[in-house]
Amino acid sequence: MRDKDYSDMESAAMEIEGPVHVPVMACEVTKYLVTRPEGIYVDATLGLGGHTKSILENTGCKSLVIGLDVDEEAMSLAREALLKYNGHVIYRNSNFSDIDKVLASLDIREVDGIVADLGMSSYQLDASERGFSFIRDEPLDMRMDPRLRFTAYDLVNEMGADEISRVLRMYGEEKWAPKIAKRIVERRKTSPIKTSAELAELVSHAIPAKFHPPKTHPATRTFQALRIAVNNELENIKEFLQKAVDALKSGGRLVVISFHSLEDRIVKNFFQGLSSPCVCPPGLPVCGCGKKKSIEILTRSPILAGEEEILANPRARSAKMRVGEKI
Ligand SMILES: C[S@@+](CC[C@H](N)C(=O)[O-])C[C@H]1O[C@@H](n2cnc3c(N)ncnc32)[C@H](O)[C@@H]1O
Repeated sequence: MRDKDYSDMESAAMEIEGPVHVPVMACEVTKYLVTRPEGIYVDATLGLGGHTKSILENTGCKSLVIGLDVDEEAMSLAREALLKYNGHVIYRNSNFSDIDKVLASLDIREVDGIVADLGMSSYQLDASERGFSFIRDEPLDMRMDPRLRFTAYDLVNEMGADEISRVLRMYGEEKWAPKIAKRIVERRKTSPIKTSAELAELVSHAIPAKFHPPKTHPATRTFQALRIAVNNELENIKEFLQKAVDALKSGGRLVVISFHSLEDRIVKNFFQGLSSPCVCPPGLPVCGCGKKKSIEILTRSPILAGEEEILANPRARSAKMRVGEKI
């Protein structure tokens, strides 16, 4: 896994003061997503509303956007930013893994397009004060959705060493996981680990200095792993993808932007699975599985941000956009 999600956002945060808000690949998103100006679109990760705004601008405000986010605070900022589009946005403080329930509650059977811009927002990293950032000293929380039961504090202070190590390896591909886990458990004997800065410092000391990555903070992988675990991110993505395809009308598009290889692998495999017509073992005279191709992949290789966008918004550096069209 690359460290870019965190490192690029941290450098963006250091370069620009205050919460940075620049939607990633906004032009590419609308180009692929919008097939009908009067269409119904879902922005599954509303954030501060950047992609929703560009969909509405691109469709001359003829479309309707349903915006979902688990973070109520971010959602109220989005409401303010999108005030002038009143009537064209329906807000739902919901997990995108519940997209089916949200659409059913609105009596909407099919939509024209769905976009998901995965991960955390610059607002959450820079301004939410929930401990997402290793360059700030904040309570170790890391919940995007405050309704979740367990925080990063709970995981770090209550899991056994083996479990911590497993989480760091699985969601951070951190090869120093056992050493970091051991150091965490030792520290807990004197006092709990309460803040992001305490954890970042502890991780820095657990990894020998000569093995610190040259360009990223040594705690990058640990923070990413904890955030993924706290928010159950990968499971939510898997559940969302199938429900999203089910909710699309024929010809409707699913646009997904991912920021690290764990996310991108899920999206890529998912699209590949739905775009291959038959899963019978090779050599069978006739197809016995009966599987039909349900998605056309519109991006053979993922779309990346251009140099100019990356210069203006370092977070875009690690973004990969994949698009599927429902058959
Ligand atoms: C990268 S930001 C999106 C930024 C947005 N596209 C914009 O232009 O402002 C990701 C957002 O998705 C939200 N999010 C993450 N996982 C989610 C989930 N499972 N369901 C709903 N929202 C989620 C986060 O709270 C965050 O606000």
